[in-house]
Amino acid sequence: MVKAVTQKKILKFPKTKIIALDRDPNSQKVAEKIKIENSKNFDFYNLKFSNLDKVHLKNENIKAIIFDLGFSYIQIKDYQKGLSFKSEGPLDMRMGLNEFSASKVINTLDQKDLEIIFKFFGEEKDSKRIAKKIIIERKKNLIDTQKLVKIVNSSKKKNYKKTHNSTKVFQALRIFVNKEISELVEGLIKSVKILKKNGIVIFISFHSLEDKIIKTFFRLLSENNKTSRYMPDNIIKPNILKLVKKKPILPSNKEIKLNKQSRSAKLRYAIKINDCDNFEKKIYEKFKFLLDIEKLSEKL
Ligand SMILES: C[S@@+](CC[C@H](N)C(=O)[O-])C[C@H]1O[C@@H](n2cnc3c(N)ncnc32)[C@H](O)[C@@H]1O
Repeated sequence: MVKAVTQKKILKFPKTKIIALDRDPNSQKVAEKIKIENSKNFDFYNLKFSNLDKVHLKNENIKAIIFDLGFSYIQIKDYQKGLSFKSEGPLDMRMGLNEFSASKVINTLDQKDLEIIFKFFGEEKDSKRIAKKIIIERKKNLIDTQKLVKIVNSSKKKNYKKTHNSTKVFQALRIFVNKEISELVEGLIKSVKILKKNGIVIFISFHSLEDKIIKTFFRLLSENNKTSRYMPDNIIKPNILKLVKKKPILPSNKEIKLNKQSRSAKLRYAIKINDCDNFEKKIYEKFKFLLDIEKLSEKL
């Protein structure tokens, strides 16, 4: 889950073991190289975050879990994956271990569903106009990446100078195709469960929706759930997490110069201070609205 360079730095500590997970089967090749040099203290699994509990842990003492979310530079440059609006390739967007492609979504779901996805997963202001145009255009031809870019361009009320017109629609589709909301929510829940007491959980996110979910999750598990000051202390559940910093850590200007992709990154971390009982219900309830949008894929 962390950058290969970072993994190598962590592996310099001889007693530290890394268990790495990535859904993209191509990352296996990078992992194999690391494994050759560090056979004893490195293991890789081609698994999704939501399957974190499927990793064979053999009583491992998990002291830290790091999530490096989103997609990599290698993935965006791989035009067959169709993650970029610059791509001439298929409208695909599957990072690995997926069920359906972006092409299936754009060419199958109805107008209202597409509008909801663009609006809530992309915060796209012109979601209604874009969805309407997609329905008209797809009656003529199957919509591919460049066709979608044209549709978005011609539907926008305002042209934005700083970002590409298609950024938000492509982000929304990528989140939907890769089920990034449930992946993140499951990843958050399962990581806190397998982490040892006093262990640290770290999330690096790249868009505001991801960051909002992490921030809310951390808040829910780090604030005493005392609803009334008259409530006796002995029925208050102890906090599971402790937040050391409320604000996220952002990259420095120097880092952004060296690594442009880091400019939108936000890092949040928390320490597990108590073992947890059933806290999932409250988390699923909190994110129900977003999780239900992902369920629109059941229509595909
Ligand atoms: C920012 S990149 C980090 C890349 C990698 N650590 C490296 O150094 O090359 C994010 C990685 O997370 C993977 N990823 C995204 N969502 C995932 C998920 N739900 N489960 C597993 N891996 C995921 C992507 O395939 C991508 O390789």
